[in-house]
Amino acid sequence: MLNVTPKPTDSPHKRLFILNRTLQTSTVLARIEETEAAWIDPLVTGLAQRTAPLADRAEWKLRLDGLLALERGGSPAGDYLAEKATREQFAHVVREFALDGLTEAQNFFPAVPRLPMRAQMAVMRVLIDEFGCGNLQQTHSQLYLDLLAELGLPQELESFLDTTGDETYAFLNVFYWLTLRATHVEYFLGALAYLEASIPDAFTVQARACARLGLTRGKYYTEHLHIDTFHMREMQTAIKEYEASCGLDATKLWIGAQLLSRLIGGAFDAAVERAREAA
Ligand SMILES: [Fe+2]
Ligand SMILES: [Fe+2]
Repeated sequence: MLNVTPKPTDSPHKRLFILNRTLQTSTVLARIEETEAAWIDPLVTGLAQRTAPLADRAEWKLRLDGLLALERGGSPAGDYLAEKATREQFAHVVREFALDGLTEAQNFFPAVPRLPMRAQMAVMRVLIDEFGCGNLQQTHSQLYLDLLAELGLPQELESFLDTTGDETYAFLNVFYWLTLRATHVEYFLGALAYLEASIPDAFTVQARACARLGLTRGKYYTEHLHIDTFHMREMQTAIKEYEASCGLDATKLWIGAQLLSRLIGGAFDAAVERAREAA
């Protein structure tokens, strides 16, 4: 939770993030719904209009593998961060994603009761790892704190509210919509299955940057290279179990994946761009 009130001068995305982490009174919720709908509705409607219906789970898996293969080719922003960024530029990117690292996986919980029991178990196995199996030193948020400390960056969530870009806020905010307000939970399952499957490749960029820059507390990234290979399988299990109990709209899985791919890709590119401009 945040003990902060949004300012009138804050961008809609920043306001939405603060409200999403505020006690949910009816007034707060009404403000969230209004701000969120103006952003997410056109985004999801546009994706739905451009997405031909998928036949089944097998087709979803094929589409996902295609997207992951495409992203594995890398990007100019990723190449720059891995091979050329200075320590200051890398710290800039770490700061940009601090609100994500410090709240990691907290916003997945509301999806759990929306799933059938066997799918709940698969998502819970992912969540247990995200929270270090109950061991504070291994929680992904603590690993992020360790990295922030090495880079001389602040440790409190509030310190990052004014230094986070709208593209990153959009990536953070989408999970509150996916888990709490999206009418169909397949959007969340598709988005998280994509995210867990994409990270083992995506985080090789930051892991290479840490090694090149001589940073010793980059376990946040190397841990994900390892653990998300298990999480991607758990999410496939969750989807299989969801289908067995409830049937499956594979098209909505795919829309969820595309939505998240676009938001996280946009946030990453913008973060690297801003880091380069700041230097
Ligand atoms: Fe994680
Ligand atoms: Fe994970």
